[in-house]
Amino acid sequence: MKNFNELLKTETEFINERIDELLPKKAVFQDRIIEAMNYSVEAGGKRLRPMLVLESFRLCGGSNEALVYPFMAALECIHTYSLVHDDLPAMDNDDYRRGKLTTHKKYGEDFGVLAGDGLLNYAYELMLEAVVSCSSDADRQSCSKAAAIIARKAGIYGMVGGQSLDVWLTDKSMNAQELDFIFRLKTGALIEAAFMAGAVLAGAEDSIVEKIEKIGHYVGFAFQIKDDILDITSTQEVLGKPVLSDEKNHKTTYVSLYGMEKAQRDVDDMSNCAVGLVKELGNNGFLIDLIEMLINRDK
Ligand code: IPE
Ligand code: IPE
Ligand code: MG
Ligand code: MG
Ligand code: MG
Repeated sequence: MKNFNELLKTETEFINERIDELLPKKAVFQDRIIEAMNYSVEAGGKRLRPMLVLESFRLCGGSNEALVYPFMAALECIHTYSLVHDDLPAMDNDDYRRGKLTTHKKYGEDFGVLAGDGLLNYAYELMLEAVVSCSSDADRQSCSKAAAIIARKAGIYGMVGGQSLDVWLTDKSMNAQELDFIFRLKTGALIEAAFMAGAVLAGAEDSIVEKIEKIGHYVGFAFQIKDDILDITSTQEVLGKPVLSDEKNHKTTYVSLYGMEKAQRDVDDMSNCAVGLVKELGNNGFLIDLIEMLINRDK
């Protein structure tokens, strides 16, 4: 039997193939923008969000897996656009991402902005294409609902809202309530959306989707705390992005506000809460191992 790391590798490869199939293909006059968009996606990354869509779908007993592929790719496009813009000089001003030069360093700032725009819009193209090509009313309803969840969680009530307060409070003092809001939105929202979209596509009822959203909340919050920890403890070689970016930008982080010890403890506690809820819902050993892996991840 394969161990977790082997399963993770196989699943990441599977997801990369699905994403590759769905990325925009070359077109004469849009060559440069498509190249810049695909550059950032194909640079890699852990593919956590598409993986969570798939695993949540499986946890909720979904059967027709092809239904989730466009939503997996769409979420990865939205996540990647958020990283491309996050790295711009106007935001965190970082030069490396996923082990390569950031998109704006490679293609220029204009194409950094446009590649992000292109990826965000492309995500909606993928999701709406999925909606209009559904072969049954039930599927159409699930796909529409999943698209609406992802749209909301990516916007001002989600990721964009979180990023906005994050940059607004850069260089200013930040209290615990503000940090909590930023974490829930800038990172938590897309991870919640991944869990919820998988559940909705599997046909889960509202009460289950609510529970799944809570799992996403714990995983997302713990994930950002760990990201703040790694910004201090890791290296650029391992992370694929610069370390000490938060300090450079005078950001309040979970570690600067609460200290390293509490930060790691809270990652453990929140991840355990998430695992507890997953176990209440069903049997998905891989998802549990995945959540536990995130606690001790080094990138
Ligand atoms: C980085 O996300 C930005 C955060 C929301 C913390 P990931 O750590 O998932 O980045 P990739 O996708 O693996 O590059
Ligand atoms: C950004 O948080 C989260 C996003 C929505 C992109 P960070 O600014 O800490 O992410 P990294 O560390 O650059 O990946
Ligand atoms: Mg940032
Ligand atoms: Mg950043
Ligand atoms: Mg960070």
